[in-house]
Amino acid sequence: METLRDKVVVVTGGGGGIGVELGASFGRRGAKVVLADIVPAPLDAAADRLRAQGIDAVAVVTDVTDFDSLCATRDRAIDAFGGVHVICNNAGIGSGAKGAMWEHDLNDWRWSYDVNVFGIINGIKAFVPMLVAQDEGHVVNTSSGNGGFTPMPQAAIYPATKAAVTTITECLWGQLRLAGSKVSASILYPSSTVGGILNTGIWRPGANRPERFRRENDTEPQGNDTLEGFRAHMRSLGVELKDAPLDEIAEMCVEGVLSDTFWITARSAFQDEQLHSRLESQLAATEPSYLLRNSLDALGKRVGE
Ligand SMILES: NC(=O)c1ccc[n+]([C@@H]2O[C@H](COP(=O)([O-])OP(=O)(O)OC[C@H]3O[C@@H](n4cnc5c(N)ncnc54)[C@H](O)[C@@H]3O)[C@@H](O)[C@H]2O)c1
Repeated sequence: METLRDKVVVVTGGGGGIGVELGASFGRRGAKVVLADIVPAPLDAAADRLRAQGIDAVAVVTDVTDFDSLCATRDRAIDAFGGVHVICNNAGIGSGAKGAMWEHDLNDWRWSYDVNVFGIINGIKAFVPMLVAQDEGHVVNTSSGNGGFTPMPQAAIYPATKAAVTTITECLWGQLRLAGSKVSASILYPSSTVGGILNTGIWRPGANRPERFRRENDTEPQGNDTLEGFRAHMRSLGVELKDAPLDEIAEMCVEGVLSDTFWITARSAFQDEQLHSRLESQLAATEPSYLLRNSLDALGKRVGE
């Protein structure tokens, strides 16, 4: 897409974190913005924030696990602004599962796949037919370096869902090209050029866990802030964690859409090293020991001051 002026952008998970910043960045380029999220109060506050910046924005309560809900959001965007040109399938959760994967509650897997994977599939099915019919548009699917470069093996569920997002988006790109469509697709790996932690709701796992995905025998409160504990832990190792600027990630994404860049990421030496190590391990059929370098402590040391 050459310009975003007067185009319509829908952002799922737009009620906070990276999503609201995406809305603000697209809005600054003249786009009209539909923020879609499952939690109403922060969603309304996010849309107010954008309107206060002079951006045409509406908030639509949406559950990405429900295809009909995403269709209703698409129709609401058409009613409000006359069409849709960019869909950012950005809503995502961390399961907060404890222990090794053979100890996880199955509902941690089910909920994560429902939001992180089916949320993207539903978004593609609700929005891409109209983009293809008008032969104009862009799909951005938010993955994670954890599902694109190398997983953090301690958190199997999240990287597994995000690896699925990576593959789905590669196939989407390929199918659009094979169909001769001008619609394109990108993967966003939220990442910062200046280091730091992405301080978003993802660090409060379980905050919106629906009853149908309740853990069996779970007495632990959901939605606890795990970032403060991580900060304290890293401080005990002599590392002070700062927060990364989320608006930089959103700007990188907008630039990626305008330049039709498939892999939208802030490249780093660590990413390059992990990609090379994984490929070399596959080519030489050696064990995947590069995984052991990818831990939460290692992340903290990498992004800390
Ligand atoms: N924060 C990070 O470190 C990081 C790193 C890599 C990738 N990501 C990805 O970035 C995306 C945005 O996450 P974030 O970090 O801004 O976290 P966030 O929790 O602040 O934002 C995610 C949003 O998704 C919404 N959401 C959850 N379930 C939903 C549903 N069923 N329907 C609609 N909305 C729903 C939440 O209410 C929330 O507002 C996610 O896909 C996440 O996996 C985050």
